[in-house]
Order: sequence, then structure tokens, then C-alpha cells
Amino acid sequence: MSVTSEATTHDAARAGGGKQHDRLPGTETVGSGQIGPTGRPMPDFPVPEPLTGHGPARVIAMCNQKGGVGKTTTTINLGAALAEYGRKVLLVDFDPQGALSVGLGVRTHELDHTVYNLLVERGHDVRDLIQETRVDGLDLLPANIDLSAAEVQLVGEVAREQVLMRVLRPVMDDYDVVLIDCQPSLGLLTVNALTCAHGVIVPLETEFFAMRGVALLIDTIDKITERLNPRLQIDGILATMFDSRTLHSKEVVRSVVDHFQDTVFHTVISRTVKFPDATLAAEPITSYASTHSGAEAYRQLARELISRGGAP
Ligand SMILES: Nc1ncnc2c1ncn2[C@@H]1O[C@H](COP(=O)(O)OP(=O)(O)OP(=O)(O)O)[C@@H](O)[C@H]1O
Ligand SMILES: [Mg+2]
Repeated sequence: MSVTSEATTHDAARAGGGKQHDRLPGTETVGSGQIGPTGRPMPDFPVPEPLTGHGPARVIAMCNQKGGVGKTTTTINLGAALAEYGRKVLLVDFDPQGALSVGLGVRTHELDHTVYNLLVERGHDVRDLIQETRVDGLDLLPANIDLSAAEVQLVGEVAREQVLMRVLRPVMDDYDVVLIDCQPSLGLLTVNALTCAHGVIVPLETEFFAMRGVALLIDTIDKITERLNPRLQIDGILATMFDSRTLHSKEVVRSVVDHFQDTVFHTVISRTVKFPDATLAAEPITSYASTHSGAEAYRQLARELISRGGAP
């Protein structure tokens, strides 16, 4: 893995410790060449060309074992933004809390079959379980609390780390991108997601202890790359819940960039109540508040990901 794995809480502490920089990052997403919120010149991310056909999918795991950092919010809204650009997207809810499914309007307690059944029982077809969402080109493989039993049940399976990969194989050619919303743990479900993935996006909440645990996450990704999935790479680290009014937020982002350099997306996601509002409305922000800066930020992230080669 090319990124450094020495992020520790000391770095987070340093982030608040008044390290001097020539120039503080700007507060808004700005045009090409100007200094962006990560303190680097903001490249231009062009609107992607339409695709002429679909598949095979590039699989991306949304992963951070820290809770509440914006994994689910990013899965929904990046997925919706990619779909707006004509990509066929499958979102996989891989968290027993089912927040991704609920956030897209699915009544999870009423589901007879979910990704759980695909993992632990034979004879299901993944196509029967995938649901369309209200967003064109955006589909969902839902989960609910049943999935919490899978971790224990899979332990005795042959090739237990490759079960999700096997389950998704029949639909890989139907989609351009598959986004897997991981639970906040590094257990067997997350290992399955990382084994199945081409890339990982790591959302980091822009706060004092942002980097606590990141070294462990990168160590896990390195082990998966060595032992199970040599193609796996870190697609990017995404600063979320950025508060442009505080010096602290900017310093944390700067510290993350000091460590992870170009791995950090130029796009940052600001903190705004529109995200929880959109979740309550069971919609992506791109449709709930289509012109809001939060919607625009996820569109920019989609363009940045495509221009980095992280999605077709
Ligand atoms: N940019 C943002 N601004 C404000 N609130 C946000 C933002 N992103 C996410 N949130 C809110 O923060 C909470 C946690 O976000 P989210 O559920 O996406 O995190 P998560 O990493 O998936 O959490 P978990 O680890 O529990 O699965 C949610 O209530 C969400 O609406
Ligand atoms: Mg979540």
C-alpha cells in the first residue's frame, strides 16, 4: 500500500496544536487552480462522458471502523451522484443496522429476505433481492438486523472471506459501480467487503480524533491486499462534516493531507443539517435539495472519483 500507515492520535493532537502553514485552506469549493478546502490547488473535474454500455462493475467498500463518520451518507449520495452521471450503481447495505436501506425508504423489518439470506443460505438469486430506488439507475441490496447473525454463522464456512464476492458475481456485469456500506467494525463482514472490492473509500469526520484508528484500518487493508485480494487499493480519504467557520476543522484537514497527501480527495463534505434532513425524507440530498452545496459536493466527489479512475 502506497500510503503511510503511521497515523496516530499524536497527529490528531498536532492537528489542533497550531502548526504553522503558509496559507490556510479556503472555506468553499472553489474553481480550478484556486486553493481548495484541503489547502491544495483545486483541479478541474470535468463532467464525465456518458457511457456507451454498462459493466463490469468496479466495487468500492465504504469503510471506517469508527462510527458516525459519514459512511452511509457518502454511500447514498455518492451513489446517487454517480447515477445522475448515467452510471448504473448498486448499493449494498452491509451493516445490520440497515441505515442505508432505511435512508432509501425501505421498511427493513418487513423484509423476508435480505443480503443475510444470500450469505448464509443456498438457493437465492441476488437479482430477486435487489430493489430499485426512486433514483434512476440506483439500486439497493438491502439489509436488516438479521445480518448481525451472519458474522458468527460464516465463521465455519469454506472461503468465509469470499462469500460476498460469490453472492454478487451474477450481477457484476449489470452495474458500473457497486458501493458497499460497511458497518463500523473490522470483523468478518467488513473483511468480506474488502475481499470483494477493487477500492476503498475512507470517510473521516473532520474533528480532533479523526485519525484515531486509521492506522489499524490501513493495516487491515494491507493484510487483505497481501493475503486475499491483491487488487485492493485505497481510492481516497474523504473529509466529512467539515466546518468552514472553524480554524480547527481546517487544521484537521491539513493534518490529514500532510499524512496521506494525494490519497485525500480534494472534495470535502461540509457539515450541514440537510444531510440528516434528507435521511429523514429517505432521499439522497441530490434529489431532496438538488441545488444545495451538499448535493453539489457529492456531485463533485463523483466527478473526482471518475477522473481518478476510481469509477468508469
Ligand atoms: N456532512 C454532514 N453534515 C451533517 N451531518 C452529517 C453529515 N454526514 C453525515 N451526517 C449525519 O451524521 C450521522 C452519522 O452519519 P452516517 O450514518 O453517514 O455515518 P456512518 O459512518 O455510516 O455511521 P455508522 O458507523 O453508525 O454506520 C447521521 O445522522 C448523518 O445524517
Ligand atoms: Mg452507517
